[in-house]
Amino acid sequence: MTDKVTLSVIKADVGGYVGHSSMHEDLIEEAEDRLELAKDDGTLIDFHVSRVGDDLELIMTHQMGVDSSKIHQLAWNTLEAAAEVAKSLKLYGAGQDLLSDAFSGNVKGMGPGVAEMEIKERASEPILIFMADKTSAGAWNMPLVKMFADPFTTIGLVISPALHGGFRFEVQDVLEHKKIYFDCPDELYDLVVFVGAPARYMVKAVYHRDTNEIGAVSSTQRLSLLAGRYVGKDDPVLIVRSQGNFPAVGEVLEPFAFPYLVEGWMRGSHHGPLMPVSVPQSNPSRFDGPPRVVCLGFQLCNGSLVGPRDMFDDPSFDETRRQANLAGEYMRRHGPFEPHRLPLGEMEYTTMPELMKRLAERFEDVTD
Ligand code: 13P
Ligand code: 13P
Ligand code: MG
Ligand code: MG
Repeated sequence: MTDKVTLSVIKADVGGYVGHSSMHEDLIEEAEDRLELAKDDGTLIDFHVSRVGDDLELIMTHQMGVDSSKIHQLAWNTLEAAAEVAKSLKLYGAGQDLLSDAFSGNVKGMGPGVAEMEIKERASEPILIFMADKTSAGAWNMPLVKMFADPFTTIGLVISPALHGGFRFEVQDVLEHKKIYFDCPDELYDLVVFVGAPARYMVKAVYHRDTNEIGAVSSTQRLSLLAGRYVGKDDPVLIVRSQGNFPAVGEVLEPFAFPYLVEGWMRGSHHGPLMPVSVPQSNPSRFDGPPRVVCLGFQLCNGSLVGPRDMFDDPSFDETRRQANLAGEYMRRHGPFEPHRLPLGEMEYTTMPELMKRLAERFEDVTD
């Protein structure tokens, strides 16, 4: 038996209630029942089932390492069982993110989003799990740069000897399937050239440079690239370790005090502000939005998940939510025009090809 513990967060939209706005309680109960059995038989050390908007989130601890086929099978079966409940209630988009009928050892590439890390649990191990709805993988780029490389966000980078050596960022090019590492602060400007374009370059993980310990890992699965068509937005997840060699809890949360613009919202085809909310407030209803982020905090204790604390359930984020509403309204006034609507290449679905075909003959050469 390893002395390490693995934290696996595996999520999917298996059916919305009502429309894409929220989740029916029966889906949570079904997932809890399934994972309880896996805890009883020793597969899992612990688990917590949650949701953001219409996305079902399985938070699991175990000792089988990342990419364990047993854990992925368990997650797949659990999501499928919840999808069956969704189908029985004729919930919206039941089974939406489960792109295949046959499980083949790993849920990656099959629709669900996955973030996993194997760690040696510290004397105290505060963990923050971020979950977003109505937005894309890549939405974590800006907050990750801020929490692990920006001294205006994380004062620990300046005044704590444990953080002063900086962090290493693993960046994935999701179109070319390549990855590259940047050491910050030295290579911060190089890093931002890439991750400032989050539709293509995504921060996959962050490591403490002095010790090589993992500090954060995100889901980078892009549903539309996997499915070859629009089925729903990625609605990504992110795991962050906190305190000690990593940013303090308040430093990890601080980037979300600014409701920055992300891709997503209605039909996955708009820019809108990311609003930090409590789990009960994560019901994106206005124009299927604006996009939401929730954060659950846990103290790990020998693999057990002590918690959760609903981290954005705090009046200090009220002003952010108000600003998100103002920014959301400002964007909405653009209606079907860019930059509220995404540029043509980024839109999740479009009538353009059909229209171009139908109107092809009516396009005349411009000669003047
Ligand atoms: P405490 O002194 O409350 O432990 O706080 C230290 C810290 O990390 C605050 O960011
Ligand atoms: P979800 O990805 O959350 O299902 O949202 C899809 C959508 O198109 C909302 O308008
Ligand atoms: Mg949905
Ligand atoms: Mg969703």
